Amino acid sequence: MRLLKERIKKDGKALSKTVLKVDSFINHQVDIEIMEEIGKDFAEHFKDRGITKVFTIESSGIAPALMTAKYLDVPMLILKKQNSKILNDNVYQTRITSFTKGTTYELTLFADYIQPEDRVLLIDDFLANGEAAMGASRIIAESGAELVGVGILIEKSFQKGRKRLEDAGYYVYSQARIGRLDNGVIEFLSEDAPVMEGVEEKDLL
Ligand code: G4P
Repeated sequence: MRLLKERIKKDGKALSKTVLKVDSFINHQVDIEIMEEIGKDFAEHFKDRGITKVFTIESSGIAPALMTAKYLDVPMLILKKQNSKILNDNVYQTRITSFTKGTTYELTLFADYIQPEDRVLLIDDFLANGEAAMGASRIIAESGAELVGVGILIEKSFQKGRKRLEDAGYYVYSQARIGRLDNGVIEFLSEDAPVMEGVEEKDLL
């Protein structure tokens, strides 16, 4: 998506080989106008997939997921991050460990908000190693619903998330694909560039 790539070039800050800071328009201060365009782009891209719900993972996915759901005219749901297991049969939970942030949490969804006939689009801001997206896919599969697409704003293509999702059979569309980061360097890949193998986080440090 041209608009997003231009904005990343203008306001994104590559802090290292792994971290891109986009705090000024995506995940701290939120630019509502670009979120609206991001939502329109996802809605256009996924419009023929029969989507019944848009899911995201708190917190930075909420703004783009909301706009996407608005333009697809379907409900939006937030998968919550809980510190511990909820002992309740009416809940789907799966444990996530983020390599990027070094955190562990229980990704949680109340069963009332998903039905087996749902066709789900998952929207998130970053795809790195794909832990969060793979966790969301487990919850959706457990409910009997189908994950019909994953929409990502910024794919760090040199990490293994995209490959993991595709190897698991999921369709991924990323609005901006980054092939390389370094201090002050941001290199994009084209939308149809081959999926990269992805390297371990430790090898990027
Ligand atoms: P992981 O497997 O390495 O954990 O990758 P994942 O894609 O699940 O991302 C983990 C968290 O790290 C996500 O935030 C994601 O937004 C954030 N993240 C990954 N790479 C970058 C980056 O280059 N820059 C920034 N700014 N964030 C990055 P989260 O834990 O879901 O938290 P939240 O920000 O959505 O609240």
